[in-house]
Amino acid sequence: LQNFDVQNEPILGYREGSQERNMLKEELARAAAVTEDVPIVIGDEEVRDGEPRFQVMPHNHSKKIAKFYYASEKTIQKAIKVSVAAQERWDRTSLEERVRIWQCAAELMAGRYRQSLNAATMLGQSKTAIQAEIDSAAELIDFFRFNVFFLKENAKYQPISENAKVTRNSLRFRGIDGFIAAISPFNFTAIGGNLAYTPALMGNGVVWKPSDTALLSNWRIFNIMREAGLPPGVVNFVPADGPTFGKTITSSPDLAGINFTGSVPTFNWLWNAVGQNLSKYRNYPRLIGECGGKNYHFVHPSADVQSVVTGTIRSAFEYCGQKCSACSRMYVPKSLFEPIKNGLVTERNKLKIGDPSDFSVFTGAVIDDKAFARISGYIKGAKSNSKNKILAGGKCDDSKGYFVEPTIIQTEDPLDKLMTEEIFGPVLTVYVYEDADVHKTLSMVGESTKFALTGAVFSQDKDFSKVALDVLKTTAGNFYINDKSTGSVVGQQPFGGGRMSGTNDKAGGPNYVMRWTSPQSIKETF
Ligand code: SER
Repeated sequence: LQNFDVQNEPILGYREGSQERNMLKEELARAAAVTEDVPIVIGDEEVRDGEPRFQVMPHNHSKKIAKFYYASEKTIQKAIKVSVAAQERWDRTSLEERVRIWQCAAELMAGRYRQSLNAATMLGQSKTAIQAEIDSAAELIDFFRFNVFFLKENAKYQPISENAKVTRNSLRFRGIDGFIAAISPFNFTAIGGNLAYTPALMGNGVVWKPSDTALLSNWRIFNIMREAGLPPGVVNFVPADGPTFGKTITSSPDLAGINFTGSVPTFNWLWNAVGQNLSKYRNYPRLIGECGGKNYHFVHPSADVQSVVTGTIRSAFEYCGQKCSACSRMYVPKSLFEPIKNGLVTERNKLKIGDPSDFSVFTGAVIDDKAFARISGYIKGAKSNSKNKILAGGKCDDSKGYFVEPTIIQTEDPLDKLMTEEIFGPVLTVYVYEDADVHKTLSMVGESTKFALTGAVFSQDKDFSKVALDVLKTTAGNFYINDKSTGSVVGQQPFGGGRMSGTNDKAGGPNYVMRWTSPQSIKETF
C-alpha cells in the first residue's frame, strides 16, 4: 500500500451568516418537506416487504421523514446469501482499490454530502447542528480515513524470513468466510458507518440492520458508499424487526461475526444464541459489542469548580444524555457541594430545549416513545422517594415531541438505582460525600455497577489522580482526568469499555480493523 497520512476532520462552527449554516438550512428544509422512501437493498435489488413503517422527528412526532420496511425472515436469508457470494469476489479486491473507495467516500462525506448527512441526523435523531457535525460529519469521516490508515499501518508489519534466500514468510489479511451482521444504534450516525463498513473494508460481506430511528442518516451513508464505488452485495441494507433479525442471523451456518452496539440484554441474547448454534458455523463467529454505561464524574476536594460545572453540564445533557459516554452519576465532596450545585443549576437553567433546527437550542428531544417512558419513569420514581431531591428540571412533555428537561437529582443513597442503573437520558444524579471519606467513596464507584465505559476524575492534586487511576482501573474503558467523560475522538481516544459495557475492541483505534480479518501466515520455499 502506498504511504499516506491522516488527520482528524476539522469541525465547522455553523455561525450565523456562514456558508455552512446557509447550506445546512437548505438541506433541512429539503429533508423536512418530504417523507423519503427507503427500501431494503440486497445486492442491487430494492425490496419492500410488508406494510411501510415511518421514522418520525423525535421533536415533532407527527412529522414523518422516512418510510421504510422490515425485512422478512426470507428477505434476511436472501441478504445473507448475497453477501456471502459478494464476499468471495470482494475479498480478492486489492487493498489499494478498497482504500481508494474509502478515501473517495470520506471526501464525499466531507464535501458534497456533509450538510445532507447532518440534516438527516438533526431531523431524524434530534441532534443540534453542532452535535450532528461532530457525529455525522467529523466522526464518520474520521472512521473512514483512520480505518484505512490503520489497515495500511498494520499491513506494514510482515513476519521475518530468517533465511530469505530460500524462504519468504508473509501475512495475508483475509476477510472471514461467511457474513458479518452489523447491528447499529440510533445515537451516533458515525457508529452505523463504522459497524457496517469496517468489516467490509477488511474483505467481509455485511448484512446491516440500521436502527429504525437513525434510518435516514444511515441510508445516506449507504448511498455514499455506492457512489464511491463499493460493489453491490458487499454491504446490504436490511432494516428489520430486532428479534426476527437476531434469530435469522444466529441460526445461519454462514454467520462469521456480529458487530453490535446497543443494549446489554440484546447483546447477551445474541451471545447465547451464537453459543446454542455453535456447531452449525464454519468459524467461531467474532462477537464485538458496545453495550451500556453508567458513567461517572468523581470530584476531589482539590478540583477546579468551573471545569467540573462546565464539563458535567456538557457530558450529562448534550444530546439529551444519549451518548454512550454521557455522565449520569456524580460524586461531590461536601466542601465543594454549594458552589458546584449553584453552578450546575445556574447553567442548566440557561439551556434551551426545542427543535434542534433552531440554532439557539442546546438540546432536542429524546429519541422515541419508549425512551420517553423509561426516562420519565425514573424521574417520577425519584420524585416519590424521600431520599432523592430534584435540584433542577424534572418536567416531561410528549405532546408534540419527546421532551424531557435536563434534570439534576441529589440522592442520599449512593446505591440508589439512579446511581447504578443506565437511564440513557438527560438525568444527572449527584451524591455528596464527606471529604474525609474520599477514598472510601472512590472504591464505591466501581463496586456499584456492572458497567465500565467512561469515567472522569476532577482533581488538581496529582497524587490523588494517580491513586484514582489505580483504584478505578477496571471501571472505565475511557478515563479522563480533569475533562468530561464524553467526546472521544477517533485516532486520539480509541473508544470502548469492559465489563457489561462491551468487548472493549476500541473503535477508532488501530486494533479494531484487525478484529475483522482472518489473517493467513504464508511460508514460501523457493
Ligand atoms: N465518541 C463518543 C463520545 O465519546 C461516544 O461514541 O462521546
